[in-house]
This record gives sequence, C-alpha cells and structure tokens, in this order.
Amino acid sequence: MYRSEFYVYDQERPVPVIIRNYSNVDFDDLIKIQSECFPPPFPSELWWNKEQLTNHVYMFPEGALCVEVAGELAGSITGLTIDFDPSDKNHSWEEITDHGYIRNNNPNGNTLYIVDISVRPKYRKLGLGKLMMQSMYHVVIEKELYRLLGGGRMPGYHKKADIMTPGQYLDATIKGEVQDPVITFLLHCGRVPIGIIENYLEDDESCNYAALMEWKNPFR
Ligand SMILES: CC(C)(COP(=O)(O)OP(=O)(O)OC[C@H]1O[C@@H](n2cnc3c(N)ncnc32)[C@H](O)[C@@H]1OP(=O)(O)O)[C@@H](O)C(=O)NCCC(=O)NCCS
Repeated sequence: MYRSEFYVYDQERPVPVIIRNYSNVDFDDLIKIQSECFPPPFPSELWWNKEQLTNHVYMFPEGALCVEVAGELAGSITGLTIDFDPSDKNHSWEEITDHGYIRNNNPNGNTLYIVDISVRPKYRKLGLGKLMMQSMYHVVIEKELYRLLGGGRMPGYHKKADIMTPGQYLDATIKGEVQDPVITFLLHCGRVPIGIIENYLEDDESCNYAALMEWKNPFR
C-alpha cells in the first residue's frame, strides 16, 4: 500500500500533504471532486459512480490514489494494468478502461494505464497533480511494469480546430507555442506523446481527440 506525507508550498506557506490509496470512505468526496473538475459541457454520466470506485479499490487498489491537503481530499489519480502492444495504439477510453469499471484489469499486463487524474480547482497549480503522477511512476517501478500510459485530453484544441489539425496542435504544444491545460501539464510531468487518437472520449473541448502519452520505466 502507498502512503507518503510531506509539504507543498502555497506561495511561501508550507502545507501538509498526504498521498495515499483511496477507499470506500472517500467515495462521496471523490465524486464531488469529479463534478468540480469536469463541469459542462463534459457529460456528467462520465463522472465516477460508486460501483466504478468500488472496482478500483478491489481490482487494482495500488492504482487508486488520492491526495489530502490539511485533512481535505484535493484530488485523485486512478489506473489499471493492461497488456499494451505498441504496434496497436488505437483505442477509446471506454474500451481500454472498461468504461471506468476496470473489470478488464490484467494482473499480468505490462503497462499501467491512467483512467483519470483530477485536482480540485481550488488546489490547482500547487504541484499536486504532478506529485500524484510521480506516485504512479513509483507504482510502475514497484510492479516492474514497462511503462505508464494514458490518453491526454486536449481541451484547448477546439479553439484552434479551424486552423490546425490535432497533430499540428500537439506539435505546437510540444514546441511551447500553445499551452494546453492538460497536454502541457502532462509534458511537465515527464509524459511523452506517442500518437493521436480520434474518437477517444466524448469531449467537445478536445473535439474527441486525445494524445497518447507515455512514461517509460527507466529500469526496464
Ligand atoms: C490537469 C490537472 C490534473 C493538473 O493538476 P495541478 O495539480 O493543477 O497541476 P500541477 O500543479 O501539479 O502542475 C504540474 C506542472 O504542470 C503545469 N501546469 C499545470 N496546469 C497547467 C495549465 N493549465 N497550463 C499550463 N501548464 C500547466 C504547472 O505549471 C506545473 O509546472 P512545473 O512542474 O514546471 O511546476 C488539473 O488541472 C485538473 O484536474 N484538470 C481537470 C481534469 C482533467 O482534465 N484531467 C485530465 C484528464 S486526461
């Protein structure tokens, strides 16, 4: 099980933080956080429900992590293990995560796949998202997996869709010409784009596109 206690800095003020596995007692807060993190036009049917969260906790508890700030739940990250074939990158979020229910979790898989990461708006830009991602890198190393992988939404794309293809938008983000709220964050976390997926998720802001982004276990 995972538990790490330390401080982050809010301006010049150190704030106590815990990253730990989530459990049944956290479910109500986790659903509330999703509603704050994925407001309309994002479909509310895609917010967590208790059955999905129960599966996360029982099927792959190592991949069910949350962050607490001064005793309040501030965000979560969730993953499952899959057997990934790099020659076949095409998938939708629904297929690869079993619609978020992770009943397809494969204990013999080679890849930790991120189902979701969210940080409550009032706790953003404190480094919590990156710290949770790094906690998942620890899980990848501990389980001796080859990589961490996930489809990154590109919510800024709809503003440029009339002048750029999704590939051009991703390139511009990598060059630093465009700042995307999710892709730029993932680049800051050490994730590397390995392709674009269309029809990844019903997500108007991203025009249903996602960038498949990898972090390779440096020990494998
Ligand atoms: C994406 C998200 C998890 C980021 O969480 P966060 O805790 O605010 O991010 P962090 O503070 O850890 O940021 C880490 C780095 O990314 C950068 N970053 C974070 N958000 C950014 C943004 N909107 N634009 C540009 N850079 C950003 C930070 O500047 C920081 O850089 P540094 O490492 O050089 O200091 C959060 O914005 C969120 O919950 N969004 C809504 C849910 C969502 O879309 N999740 C992704 C699903 S694929």
